[in-house]
Amino acid sequence: MCGIIGYIGPRNAISVILNGLRRLEYRGYDSAGIAILGDNGIRVTRAVGKLSNLESRLQQGGDRPSFATRDAPRAIGIGHTRWATHGGVTEHNAHPHLNDAGTLAVIQNGIVENFIELKSELLAEGVRFRSETDTEVIPHLVDLYMKAGMPFARAAFAAIARLQGSNAVVMMSAQEPDKLIAARLGHAGGIVIGVNPDETFVASDIPGILDYTRNVIFLEDGEWAIAQAGQVRVYRLDGAPVNKQRLTIAWDPVSVEKGEYRHFMQKEIFEQARAVTDTLRGRVNFETGEVALEHLEVGTGHAEGIPARIHTVACGTSKHAGMIGKFFIERIAQVAVEVDYGSEYRYRDPIIEPGIAVLGITQSGETADTLAAMSLGKARGARIWAIVNAIGSQAERMAEGVIHMRAGPEIGVCSTKTFLTSIVDQYLLACALAQRVRRSDADGRPDPYALAKDLALLPGLISQTLKPDPIYEALAHRFHDRRHFLFLGRGINYPIALEGALKLKEISYIHAEGYPAGEMKHGPIALIDETMPVVCVAVQDGVYEKMISQIEQVKARGGIVIAIATEGDDFIRQKADYVINVPAAPALLTPALTAIPMQRLAYEIATHLGCDVDQPRNLAKSVTVE
Ligand code: AGP
Repeated sequence: MCGIIGYIGPRNAISVILNGLRRLEYRGYDSAGIAILGDNGIRVTRAVGKLSNLESRLQQGGDRPSFATRDAPRAIGIGHTRWATHGGVTEHNAHPHLNDAGTLAVIQNGIVENFIELKSELLAEGVRFRSETDTEVIPHLVDLYMKAGMPFARAAFAAIARLQGSNAVVMMSAQEPDKLIAARLGHAGGIVIGVNPDETFVASDIPGILDYTRNVIFLEDGEWAIAQAGQVRVYRLDGAPVNKQRLTIAWDPVSVEKGEYRHFMQKEIFEQARAVTDTLRGRVNFETGEVALEHLEVGTGHAEGIPARIHTVACGTSKHAGMIGKFFIERIAQVAVEVDYGSEYRYRDPIIEPGIAVLGITQSGETADTLAAMSLGKARGARIWAIVNAIGSQAERMAEGVIHMRAGPEIGVCSTKTFLTSIVDQYLLACALAQRVRRSDADGRPDPYALAKDLALLPGLISQTLKPDPIYEALAHRFHDRRHFLFLGRGINYPIALEGALKLKEISYIHAEGYPAGEMKHGPIALIDETMPVVCVAVQDGVYEKMISQIEQVKARGGIVIAIATEGDDFIRQKADYVINVPAAPALLTPALTAIPMQRLAYEIATHLGCDVDQPRNLAKSVTVE
């Protein structure tokens, strides 16, 4: 959730940290703060609201550190952008948090679950707390150990070892100004450390440091690091040193810029043809239809064969992608799939028999609920697969087999291109599974080689779906003032109705419900009147006629129908009030197209309303708390 950044090296630490926070602001934007170590000790500046408030505060001069960090041979500082968990959104609850003497500064992402117990202990020692956060126990605890004679790193380690819950922590001390300490406990967000010959960066996510380095290491659960300029030492919680592998990140810094677009979300919608092309690159032989997944072997693992059953676990948009993947995998590979919310899976005590694969879908690779569901699968002996976008994320490291989305960085809080690429990944998985057991049209099932070849059409079809169309603006103009929307879909496009409703509500704050169209008559039909826009996915597939009857039922009650229909379908124009066209496509690929009008409609309505589509209220890109 929160964004964390730390720097030690010869650059101006304030600008490195502010730049990193700007890149990470999608992770949380309730408040932000920065701590810089200068000639007169640690100087902290915090501000409620967006990062721009912190920047103006720093520029106003009053809070500007009274030293020129660019002249320092080694500058050191940390910064944080917050998504509040404990304590309201106030300046004194914003990070970094300090010890009493102001000689230690700490930033954290996660929840210190035993903070009440630690706080009582510290209060009994006479410590004064300045915030209501759980985080503040950390600097006081480290301080206590340092006062007892421990050097900074040992004291930090002793404090970290006492924290319960999932936490990522970074801290610095005025007494030992040559190092930052970083730790990762549990699944609450990653820690990536970037290392150049004379400088070191710490961040919760790659975009935070991508402007400066691509040489990184990732901390695993239960690891902590001493980061000095140009070098890092990593240890496990038992004190044993860990030899970390350095990775090179392929992402280009330009990929985290908005370019000519107004918003990241808009850019990410319009780069979906490119994203899908990248997702397919090298994975399908379009001559033969053979699918090869470079980091996932479908037929090895605990059992020799392909999984007997797949449990897909995911949240939000990724869950909707999983629901579409169920159609692919069951239809193409004949493997039964159950799809659960990550947050629910554990609580239904799932039956995990031998031969089950648990498939986590998560663009961030950090969603606490999804990770917890994957962990449960692992603990019960399932093979673990993941579909992830964030390279080096916890989900990727937990899984035996991974399919990368290859969407590139997604900065808008609203998932768009990662939705499409995760759909494509599941289609590839379905074909790979089916090809493993050589299912072909000979056994009456769809030919997985021919189906894989269909994917060659997809980037072109996506580009057609993205062409300029005045209908979006017209719809936004007409319907931006509505309080409610209904989205209906059936079969493989039912999850698209759910996704359409989620897109609209999260960025425009208009209430929206997604429903399986056939269920409408069992309740939601009561909501329909002449003020209710009903978005119906009605492409020409196996349930087209059924969708037409649903549209008739909506019209009979005075509802306003916005149909997403196949180009050239003139019949539907007589039924619906508005029609958004998508090109004709093989039936299983239609969700990758019908998703796009949902994204464009939500974007257009939200921008019409003046909403902050990249950073909608109360949300965060990586939900690292349960
Ligand atoms: C998507 O628009 C949402 N912001 C949200 O539902 C998201 O899909 C969910 O939090 C899961 O995230 P993940 O893919 O990173 O696990």
